[in-house]
Amino acid sequence: MMDQDLVTKAVDRDRLQEAARDHLWLHFSRHSVYQENDMPVIVRGEGAYIWDDQGRRYLDGLAGLFVNQLGHGRTDLAEAGAKQASTLAFHPLWSYAHPGAIELAEKLAGYAPGNLNRVFFTTGGGEAVESAWKLAKQYFKLTGKPTKHKVISRNIAYHGTPQGALSITGIAGMKAPFEPLVPSTFRVPNTNFYRAPEHADDIEAFGRWAADRIAEVIEFEGPETVAAVFLEPVQNSGGCFPPPPGYFQRVREICDQYDVLLVSDEVICAYGRLGHMFGADRYGYQPDIITSAKGLTSGYAPLGAMIASDRLMEPFLTGQHTFLHGYTFGGHPVSTAVALKNLEIFKEEKINEHVRANESAFRNTLEKLLDLPIVGDVRGDGYFYGIELVKDKATKETFSDDESERLLRGYLSKALYDAGLYCRADDRGDPVIQLAPPLICDQEHFDEMEQVLRTVLDKAWTLL
Ligand SMILES: Cc1ncc(COP(=O)(O)O)c(C=O)c1O
Repeated sequence: MMDQDLVTKAVDRDRLQEAARDHLWLHFSRHSVYQENDMPVIVRGEGAYIWDDQGRRYLDGLAGLFVNQLGHGRTDLAEAGAKQASTLAFHPLWSYAHPGAIELAEKLAGYAPGNLNRVFFTTGGGEAVESAWKLAKQYFKLTGKPTKHKVISRNIAYHGTPQGALSITGIAGMKAPFEPLVPSTFRVPNTNFYRAPEHADDIEAFGRWAADRIAEVIEFEGPETVAAVFLEPVQNSGGCFPPPPGYFQRVREICDQYDVLLVSDEVICAYGRLGHMFGADRYGYQPDIITSAKGLTSGYAPLGAMIASDRLMEPFLTGQHTFLHGYTFGGHPVSTAVALKNLEIFKEEKINEHVRANESAFRNTLEKLLDLPIVGDVRGDGYFYGIELVKDKATKETFSDDESERLLRGYLSKALYDAGLYCRADDRGDPVIQLAPPLICDQEHFDEMEQVLRTVLDKAWTLL
């Protein structure tokens, strides 16, 4: 006979599954799958691991969603939030400040490169992107260039789901259901060197070519109409495209030449993901705006931040001008308290140093997978890697839509999860597996990821 506790737990699980099936709407999820299968329910986390409601353990190979930098179960972060909630649970940043927002703004301005000294808080990344575009538009209206409003971004790049941010996003299939979106956004090539359409044998020439496409679009559209270019330091969607050497330096020159704002969308890349507070530091370029979120609190509370240069704040410092924009929960006191604690721990526990010291080991471990026939490319930087899957390594032939559907949705996502690795199998571009674990991970976690991937990818090849 079953132990009574187990019976109770099984009944609770069944009840939860039924309620989930009847009432919960998951994000970016195909719900038909859950008519016949249980929804995975995650109940607990500790360090680099999470557990489901049946007690099974998984290595959190995606830090939730590029979020949980310090890992799970940190009572110091939880207590920082609880303490703030009992002191001042909420007050908005609409004409009032609170100490946490002030201190965090000062801290972020200190970390941000150059004269990026002004911090506008949001609740997440899409809102930070949205805020940056709105700021660019209003700034140019106030400074005598009112026709500058267009935005350039890269193919397959993801910049969020609010309609402005979605318009900037470069993934056609994700936008189609919501057309017409905000007009005036334009796409340029990304920095996928594995599939470079030009200069495939010279990465610097390829980077120069890719950057020059931005100048081409600005010229074509008319510099007097273009407000900003939005670029991630390492482009996530498509599977971790690092910038070729010199790419951002050339982009900076182009932006200066045409007075176009360079927005570094660091929603994933900031706060240690690349071993620095900001990706712009890692690659040595100066943005006009940084958009960030995710890792700022390590996920213990939601928060985003748009960090703008002094120049962009200038017109709002005198007279009656107001940036006509805000979010009730932007810069929530609990979130800013957690973020301050998070950044304090970053310093005390030398998190960026840890990432820089271990990233080569992570890469080397993942590169062992290149001996598998299905693994075409391993790319990325810091604790942020994409593994591109191919049908034919020699020709780099990719999978058809049907094969990709069978491979990623039909097999890989579930098989990796069943084997104890939570990560992402993604086909917004060519099929990739993405890994971005908590920044506390080290060799034992890298080995575990490699072993699970090896077993599952080996099997996938036999099923093709
Ligand atoms: C580069 C980038 N920008 C914006 C966003 C949107 O952030 P959020 O989901 O917090 O709105 C994301 C989310 O993954 C992102 O990766």
